[in-house]
Amino acid sequence: MDENNPMSDPDQWEADLERRYPPAIQDMQPDSKFRNYQAEVRPSVRDFYRLNHEYQTVEFVKQKRKQFLSLQRERMGVWEAMEFLNTLVDDSDPDTELSQIEHLLQAAEAIRTDGHPRWFILVGLIHDLGKILCLFGEPQWAVVGDTFPVGCAYSSSIIFHEFFRMNPDWGHPDYSTQYGIYQPHVGLDHVMMSWGHDEYLYHVTKDHLPVEAQYMIRYHSFYPGHREDAYQHLFSERDQQLFDWVRKFNPYDLYSKSDARPDVESLKPFYLDLIAEFFPSKLAW
Ligand SMILES: [Fe+2]
Ligand SMILES: [Fe+2]
Repeated sequence: MDENNPMSDPDQWEADLERRYPPAIQDMQPDSKFRNYQAEVRPSVRDFYRLNHEYQTVEFVKQKRKQFLSLQRERMGVWEAMEFLNTLVDDSDPDTELSQIEHLLQAAEAIRTDGHPRWFILVGLIHDLGKILCLFGEPQWAVVGDTFPVGCAYSSSIIFHEFFRMNPDWGHPDYSTQYGIYQPHVGLDHVMMSWGHDEYLYHVTKDHLPVEAQYMIRYHSFYPGHREDAYQHLFSERDQQLFDWVRKFNPYDLYSKSDARPDVESLKPFYLDLIAEFFPSKLAW
């Protein structure tokens, strides 16, 4: 096993999310489902969270932002990025697991079926493209996983909260208080989130999308915020309102996976048109 990448593929985190937040028991008390969840989690997923919680510090996030947010690595169109992401090596069973493109198309198609606006369908199509960070050599724990603010106390509602004790910021005088380096209700735009595929893709795409779409992309892995209602003391009123959209998107991400594989070639023309409606032919990654 690669110590930095304990899961056989980054999708194991999402498979596990679906177990943690199954559609049928969404309304159960968070506490009870949480305890059950942690007891049954697979060892590889547990190891993944251990690394994520130990290494996501203020310093680490600053360093990754500097390394990646200048967006000078590649110039790629959106469909090109989808095909690139699809080359992500996946050790799991290819007969049962969806490819990356298939997951993106299933989410987009479910959104389209429900009659949502075109920009919303587009979010379904692109929301995980930030996972190309894996192809740039980044470890799983720095690409996927629930995200959370750094620079203030880690909420006890974050899964495997106890692993944060290993994090150097845990006892830091400035970073370990409820507000940490932030003012009350400062607004999430001023809050540094743990590093991963959400924040990266937000920066790649933000200039071309409506603000609702930007929020869906930037915070779709912020489960402590959109499923556990944590960190409300940092949210602005605007964040509160826009999180309705993040919550609207979440079921399409978690529950749109079906056995019927989308026919990529027949869907491609519709999606190429949709991409061209919002994006230039190349984006900076
Ligand atoms: Fe994602
Ligand atoms: Fe996803």
